[in-house]
Amino acid sequence: MSKFYVTTTIYYVNDVPHIGHAYTTLVGDVISRYWKLKLGDRNTFFLTGTDEHGQKIQQVAAEKKLSPKNFADSVVPRFKEAWKALDINYDFFIRTTDPRHEKVVIKLLKKIRKNGYIYKGIYKGLYCVGCEKFLVESDLVDGKCQLHPNKKPEYQEEENYFLKLKELSERVLNKIENGEYEILPQKRKNEIVSRLKQGVDDISISRAGVSWGIPLPWDKNHTIYVWVDALINYFSATQFLRGKKKFWPADIHVIGKDIVWFHTVIWQALLIAAGVELPKVILAHGFFTIDGQKISKSLGNVISPQQLVERYGSSDAVRYLLLSASQTGEDADISFQRFDEKYQSDLANGLGNLVQRVTKLCELKNFVQSFISPNLSNIPNLPSSFSSHLENFEFNLVLEELWKDFGALDAKINLDKPWEKSDDEAGKNLKVYVEKILQLTLPLSIFLPLTATKIQQIFKGPKISAPSTPLFPRLTIA
Ligand code: MSP
Repeated sequence: MSKFYVTTTIYYVNDVPHIGHAYTTLVGDVISRYWKLKLGDRNTFFLTGTDEHGQKIQQVAAEKKLSPKNFADSVVPRFKEAWKALDINYDFFIRTTDPRHEKVVIKLLKKIRKNGYIYKGIYKGLYCVGCEKFLVESDLVDGKCQLHPNKKPEYQEEENYFLKLKELSERVLNKIENGEYEILPQKRKNEIVSRLKQGVDDISISRAGVSWGIPLPWDKNHTIYVWVDALINYFSATQFLRGKKKFWPADIHVIGKDIVWFHTVIWQALLIAAGVELPKVILAHGFFTIDGQKISKSLGNVISPQQLVERYGSSDAVRYLLLSASQTGEDADISFQRFDEKYQSDLANGLGNLVQRVTKLCELKNFVQSFISPNLSNIPNLPSSFSSHLENFEFNLVLEELWKDFGALDAKINLDKPWEKSDDEAGKNLKVYVEKILQLTLPLSIFLPLTATKIQQIFKGPKISAPSTPLFPRLTIA
């Protein structure tokens, strides 16, 4: 593989970022950092951004007495700040209100129409503004949307343009079954295949009653359905940014489990209809709950990424806590108590203490030696246990593996007891410890980039001394 293109979902600007959004973005970041190590910065492209059109944004902006665009402009910096606080190294932040994106959307829709996959009809049905979608039978429980049970779905009947999804879905199913693109984890693929086999209806791709969107090029009384506009972001960025065309098709779309249908059926149907190559992998992660409850504004339990950075003192601590909180693809319940405990055991008493301990021993035993650290922009020899977990998106397992190695080193120090040895004898042990720690900075840098760099500086030598503040100071709030 000579290039790698990873995307995250683009976030609705009706809300400010919370740790659910942060998880999607962190997964994208880790994948991107791994490929940047393998292929270099120039051959890896990591895209994230915001989803700014549609009825939901229009409504929230009206409540705030702002134009939708001004409202979006006020929220976008919140996302950028959050990603900065988490040390997310994205290459481009796309906004669906960017005229360059809008142009690509229009071009693609014209092509789909020219290819005969769009027709005009009447849509009658229930619409959930929260999901920005028409509801089908299986979305309903007691007549309400399962994901937004507090909001009554709106009955809508309007003239719409439709995509021939029914016809296209046979080709979509074929491609999934032939493995032309992958849906991960397997259980999500099974769900999609079984839903496709039950048969699907054509879908509406324009809205007559929503003004906040991209006007349909051949009928200005309609705007393009927000999901169609949003999905195209993954493709449009590669078309309007200079030198990025080579990145399409995307190698992986990172998404949450709630939007798998859009990313594995609708998106592919649109691309097939337009004659554009399909993305290769769609990875759906699970959902976080907090103390057993859904993350929601009305429950008042929303945690922002910055709140966690403040509590745990560094972006790396938060990256560690979020990425180790779940098995990729599975749901996980989180709580401050569990995060506090994990911070103390794995970071303060774990890695932080190990580094402090080895540096103190170096001081005690007058250890003087220079070391050459692995190059953190190049990956000649990442141990296969790490790379295979990384390529299978088992992020929590990479971290477990790494912490096992840190633990084993700690245990070895206990056995060796270098503090009881002569400086010369202890020096032989210390050399092994430092080399091992430095070797582990390479996989570590994908997850905890600042810590990996700090560790390399600490152990550069020739004189090694304990840092004045430990890498992960013990929590005082707990
Ligand atoms: N705008 C659409 C995506 C369009 S992509 C072409 C959207 N936005 S969102 O802001 O509602 O959600 C963005 C991401 O956050 C999704 O991947 C979603 O799964 C994720 N999460 C939202 N809440 C979450 C949790 N509680 N836990 C984990 N991830 C969650 O959907």
